[in-house]
Amino acid sequence: MDRIPCFLAPMAELSHRGLRELIEEFGGCNEYFTEMISAGGLLAEGPFEKFYIDTGPRPEKTVFQLVGGALSPMVKAAGILDKLDCAGIDINMGCSAPIIRKSGAGAAWMSDIDRAGELISGVRSVVKRRLSVKLRIGLKDDFEYLARFCRRLESAGADMITLHPRLITEKFKRRARWDYVSALKRELGIPVAGNGDIITAEELAQRTNNKLCGCDAVMVGRAAVRQPWIFAKVLDPALSPNIEQTGFRFLELLARYQPPEFHVSRAKRFFGFFCDNLKWGNFVKNKLNREETLAGIERVWKAGVSV
Ligand SMILES: Cc1cc2nc3c(=O)[nH]c(=O)nc-3n(C[C@H](O)[C@H](O)[C@H](O)COP(=O)(O)O)c2cc1C
Repeated sequence: MDRIPCFLAPMAELSHRGLRELIEEFGGCNEYFTEMISAGGLLAEGPFEKFYIDTGPRPEKTVFQLVGGALSPMVKAAGILDKLDCAGIDINMGCSAPIIRKSGAGAAWMSDIDRAGELISGVRSVVKRRLSVKLRIGLKDDFEYLARFCRRLESAGADMITLHPRLITEKFKRRARWDYVSALKRELGIPVAGNGDIITAEELAQRTNNKLCGCDAVMVGRAAVRQPWIFAKVLDPALSPNIEQTGFRFLELLARYQPPEFHVSRAKRFFGFFCDNLKWGNFVKNKLNREETLAGIERVWKAGVSV
């Protein structure tokens, strides 16, 4: 059966090299979006930037996601990233975190079509690789506005849109409106990817079925942290991963590819989702969250997984 491509979503503190390595070991997916990279941080050349711009293990499949609220630093940063080994540059116009929106970044771009169009034209002038934008429906349930907004991005030079079909103000409790993804695709000449609420490999298989999907690619976030094998399981439904070993392997990869300063927070982020594979997952998660070292987290995982 023909399938449309699957992407790993950009997720702060989660979509780093360690997770990509783990997913690759199960067989990989078509593209990996990095966690959002701050344009200001990149230009300031902070000590951790080299970890944010590490596109291993598959640079040719890795897309940098850039976040920022001011046009000029975004254009400059995009120009720098475009020269690195990667598959493309993605602009974050969907992040709804108040601290990001207050700085004019993320979903704040969605409230001004002209300003967003100028940003994409500016970035387009320095980016030779694929330029994409990830966004939400908007502040209101107004499909006409969303379509107009995306048409402007398309005419400004965007090559692809990923829609996470929730309002900017909506949390995960409200279901993603996938019918907006196919409706948006009908409005645009460029590819549209859909993202939101895929939980199982069976759902992913359905969404990526070429005949049913109504879009050009499917992006998976949280479920790919809970099940780094989810993409592989679409191709081999009988796949039966070893939960315990996968947890240990993640810790190894995290230690190898991320700086020590990030180890504990990123391990907690990962296990916050991965522990859902355990019967007593919440109990293990709570214990793990009290640990302050990677060795402590590993100990709790070992004890928790064998209960
Ligand atoms: C912990 C976490 C961090 C996220 N960070 C980002 C980010 O850096 N950039 C972005 O565009 N979206 C971010 N998102 C949103 C996801 O990319 C995705 O749109 C959302 O989780 C819905 O997809 P899912 O239901 O498959 O998880 C984040 C989501 C989570 C849970």
